[in-house]
Amino acid sequence: MGLFRRKANRNPSSSSSSSVPLFGVLLVVLLLTAIFLFEVDNLATQTKTIIGYNLKPTPWHDFPAKTFNNETKIARASKIIQCSYFSCGMRSQTDQIPFTRKSEKCPSYFRWIHHDLEPWYDTRISYAQLMEVKNFASFRIVIIGGKLYVEYYYDCVQSRAMFTIWGLLQLLKRYPGKIPDVDLMFDCMDKPLIERNESTTPVPIFRYCTTPNHYDIPFPDWSFWGWPEINLGPWEEEFKSIKDGSRKQRWRKKYPYAYWKGNPVVSPIREALLECNSTEQWGALIMRQNWTQEILDGFKQSKLSTQCNYRYKIYAEGYAWSVSLKYILSCGCVPLIINPNYDDFFSRGLVPKKTYLPISPENICPSIKTAVEWGNAHPKKAEAIGKSIQDFMESLNMDRIYDYMYHLIVEYAKLLDFEPVRPVSALEECVDSLYCFADQNQTQFLARSATLPSESPPCRLPGEANRQIDRQIEEKKKIIDSTQLLM
Ligand SMILES: *[C@@H]1O[C@H](CO)[C@@H](O)[C@H](O)[C@H]1NC(C)=O
Ligand SMILES: *[C@@H]1O[C@H](CO)[C@@H](O)[C@H](O)[C@H]1NC(C)=O
Ligand SMILES: *[C@@H]1O[C@H](CO)[C@@H](O)[C@H](O)[C@H]1NC(C)=O
Ligand SMILES: *[C@@H]1O[C@H](CO)[C@@H](O)[C@H](O)[C@H]1NC(C)=O
Ligand SMILES: *[C@@H]1O[C@H](CO)[C@@H](O)[C@H](O)[C@H]1NC(C)=O
Repeated sequence: MGLFRRKANRNPSSSSSSSVPLFGVLLVVLLLTAIFLFEVDNLATQTKTIIGYNLKPTPWHDFPAKTFNNETKIARASKIIQCSYFSCGMRSQTDQIPFTRKSEKCPSYFRWIHHDLEPWYDTRISYAQLMEVKNFASFRIVIIGGKLYVEYYYDCVQSRAMFTIWGLLQLLKRYPGKIPDVDLMFDCMDKPLIERNESTTPVPIFRYCTTPNHYDIPFPDWSFWGWPEINLGPWEEEFKSIKDGSRKQRWRKKYPYAYWKGNPVVSPIREALLECNSTEQWGALIMRQNWTQEILDGFKQSKLSTQCNYRYKIYAEGYAWSVSLKYILSCGCVPLIINPNYDDFFSRGLVPKKTYLPISPENICPSIKTAVEWGNAHPKKAEAIGKSIQDFMESLNMDRIYDYMYHLIVEYAKLLDFEPVRPVSALEECVDSLYCFADQNQTQFLARSATLPSESPPCRLPGEANRQIDRQIEEKKKIIDSTQLLM
């Protein structure tokens, strides 16, 4: 940013140059131009951006660095400077808009917000703790007066950073004037990193999933706004199309076995699942998803809405939690969930035997077989499980997702023991700066998930009941441990 300040300072002195010979003037102009170009180049090669310019992949989860060799150096520099520094300036302050509708009660799993933040109830969150957890963050989000600033540390795979930050910008648009000033660290990669143990002081970091053994705070993942690389639309569109697809076949007409389709190489559980591929022996059909081939075929074979013609759908974790969970749960089929290690923000609302059937990870194939046989012998009960989980997913609409973000950020902000200020090296991001950086496909996906100011206030957050949640965790564990006996 120094460039523009210095450039501006030079202007007043140029009026005294009339007595200098012509070549002197030319020399000065050339020199200034050279300095200017040098500074522009300097700025362009130092400015870190939402699409990964001048950023390295996260060291804790390596992936191939993005290449931008399709652009000329000048085109790149002008894009970086225009998008980063000249996209957000002209906005007028957004005022609060009066609500025309009453608020609803939040779903009960919103209580987990208190549980996730409990480690800081007594100590609160200090600036020093944030700086400590910065070593695990890919970016830092600072919201001041409804404006969003981002400090980038590492690049995120694909367009995760763009769609995550887009979600936050939509939240600001949805509840203008209602989002408190806040300062938080975010990691966009898969695995929780901050272990809960005696020797560590808790430090807060936001990511897409957590486990009972980690302090990491779960936050809705980018795919709720879209995942252009695999042609996944915004959640609202996908849910509707999956639900419509699920109605094409009545329960009794659906294939009486379990279905899974995905990329098996990312986790041992998925590799093990390949062993169960026999509708006769295990009641399961296991299909390999080849994304390279799907991309070549224009995603014709990966349409989620055509994958609901089975009575049972298997969920197996990938490298960590998997984005696929929400689509599997939307089918109105009985979810067979191989006992997961990771939770996202909403999966903690699932209840074994009510909204899904747990599958033992040590005994996958026989466990699937038992579940499928039970369901085929109790079609009414099985269909009811499918219906109840589809209803659960329907209630997880975008309104609720913004509400979850809202309440989490509000409760988190209350715990900060310092006043958030804009970091010197943070850049403002706004809808226009994202559109500026987005390629054609990304632009379309962003536009499809744009929101409007909410007509009602955020849903009403249930009170803290952390001991009750602890008991629920114990009960859930007991049910899962005795899974196969209960059916
Ligand atoms: C990058 O490549 C695509 C197709 O390969 C082309 O359409 C586009 O114009 C290229 N962009 C630049 C800046 O050269
Ligand atoms: C405690 O957590 C830290 C940080 O996640 C980790 O490095 C360390 O190995 C853990 N210690 C134990 C005893 O589990
Ligand atoms: C599973 O079996 C089906 C039918 O027998 C087959 O089409 C499919 O390719 C198999 N899946 C895998 C991963 O081998
Ligand atoms: C996936 O599809 C691509 C393109 O058809 C092919 O080259 C590749 O070998 C396939 N990978 C697997 C694991 O089958
Ligand atoms: C946009 O999506 C289309 C269709 O999926 C694909 O062929 C094309 O390469 C994508 N373009 C970019 C710039 O990613």
